[in-house]
Amino acid sequence: MKPETRAQLEARLKYYRDIGISAFFRDRAPVAPGLSPAPPQAHSRATASAGLKAGAAQPSRPSSILKPSASASLPAASRPAIQLPVVQSPGLFDAASKIMNDSLERIAADIGPDCTRCKLHRRRNKIVFGVGNPKAKLVFIGEGPGADEDEQGEPFVGRAGKLLTQMIEAMGLRRDDVYICNVVKCRPPENRTPEPDEIETCSPYLLRQLDVIHPQVIVCLGAVAAKTLLGTTASMGKLRQQWFEFRSTKLLATYHPAYCLRNPPSKADVWKDLQMAMVELGLPLPPKKK
Ligand code: URA
Repeated sequence: MKPETRAQLEARLKYYRDIGISAFFRDRAPVAPGLSPAPPQAHSRATASAGLKAGAAQPSRPSSILKPSASASLPAASRPAIQLPVVQSPGLFDAASKIMNDSLERIAADIGPDCTRCKLHRRRNKIVFGVGNPKAKLVFIGEGPGADEDEQGEPFVGRAGKLLTQMIEAMGLRRDDVYICNVVKCRPPENRTPEPDEIETCSPYLLRQLDVIHPQVIVCLGAVAAKTLLGTTASMGKLRQQWFEFRSTKLLATYHPAYCLRNPPSKADVWKDLQMAMVELGLPLPPKKK
């Protein structure tokens, strides 16, 4: 085995140990037609990529909250319909309407190659639009690009991005099965938190991306994404482990991978949250620890 392959494998196994997965077996489950096979996983990925498709246009609806329930472990189709209580404060996007025949290409073109709509453009190198499957069932939303992303023009490619990739792979998916983007498309100087005017200027493009992709599940990575979409000031500790509804799409909030790097025990919390998304998406969960 090449030293770099070995190092990658060791990093992957360490991540699995960190999140409490210890049962490993080789699994060559069949792969959906048209999808290339993934590397060996810690558990089956047979249904991981199956049925990725864009949904139909949906009207705007208020963000709503759904407490986790016993029915969460049932397949999505056989779960009883639940009335979702409405979150008090409206999300930033609640009033925004959909653009007919919108596409990711059109959104990128509308942003343009030299956007100067907010002050983040002054020190930006590359606009980081988003990456992944335009028909993804699962979308991850971060805060804003960091130095590596600003240099490469792709979200989550630095250290936090490597951890996100490990999380995605632990779910039995590949990075290019999902879609990854940020609230703001340009790097805030010194990686500071994006300011309200920057979020307000840039987030309509995020909304359009979500409307075009229309995933089954949105995962907000960190408080900035969660607060932007849900219009809440609640802490991540309060937001995680429960379903919200964002414009008819189920939304989960969890810790940002950069927070997990600073606070490794939180990786296990994120894994719990991601397993809720896996149940919703019909992805097989890894065997429980004995
Ligand atoms: N952090 C983010 O929130 N987004 C990125 O793209 C990279 C790091």
